[in-house]
Amino acid sequence: MATPHINAEKDQIADIVLMPGDPLRAKLIADNYLTNVKQFNQVRNMFGYTGYYNGRKVSVMGSGMGMPSMGIYSYELFKFYDVKKIIRIGSCGALTKDLNIYDLILVNSAYSDSTYAYVQNGSTDKTITSSLNLTNKMEEIAKKEEINIIRGNIYTSDVFYKENFSYDEIINKYHCLAVEMETFALFHNAKVLSKEAACILTVSDSLVTKEEISAKARENNFITMIELVLKSI
Ligand code: HPA
Repeated sequence: MATPHINAEKDQIADIVLMPGDPLRAKLIADNYLTNVKQFNQVRNMFGYTGYYNGRKVSVMGSGMGMPSMGIYSYELFKFYDVKKIIRIGSCGALTKDLNIYDLILVNSAYSDSTYAYVQNGSTDKTITSSLNLTNKMEEIAKKEEINIIRGNIYTSDVFYKENFSYDEIINKYHCLAVEMETFALFHNAKVLSKEAACILTVSDSLVTKEEISAKARENNFITMIELVLKSI
């Protein structure tokens, strides 16, 4: 079988999928952490791999950037490949000066002003929560490994380059700590299809201080997140 965007058989994809935005990050996870790896997708270079971590079958696949891309891949994985759980591993921009570059955010809920949910099924929900089960498990592992994480809400935006945009309401009314571009669509799809989704993010830049992470530091922090997520599944 195949979907319009994933050329794989059902049994080639595990029931849990880790999704970084960048498909090359998916390859990095597969190459460095999984054994007995098989590539299951290369359509549009959105690489997907399945392998084993401590005997547990797990898949990794890029989501691409933005809700349309995440929306397509997560929907197809959940609906047509019987995937039960998806964990996004991404980056975000800080909206508060209390967050530092490199901080890890474990997402409680995603707020969005996007029409994604409304167009998808008529939902007017502006905030969608993560799976408590997956999120609590990640927090438990973080505590055990003494990895500092901040649990909080994030804003999922449709637009990276904005003119004269105020984040005041997003920060004060919706209590968002950071901005990224995919999670709301992932959580919405999980809810619609009765599946589980969670998300962990590294702060890669700050909209307050304008500081930015280097590519090398981003990779190091990415490794902390991968290890945390793999140990929690
Ligand atoms: N804006 C939106 N998405 C992001 C950002 C940002 O500043 N940083 C990482 N993902």
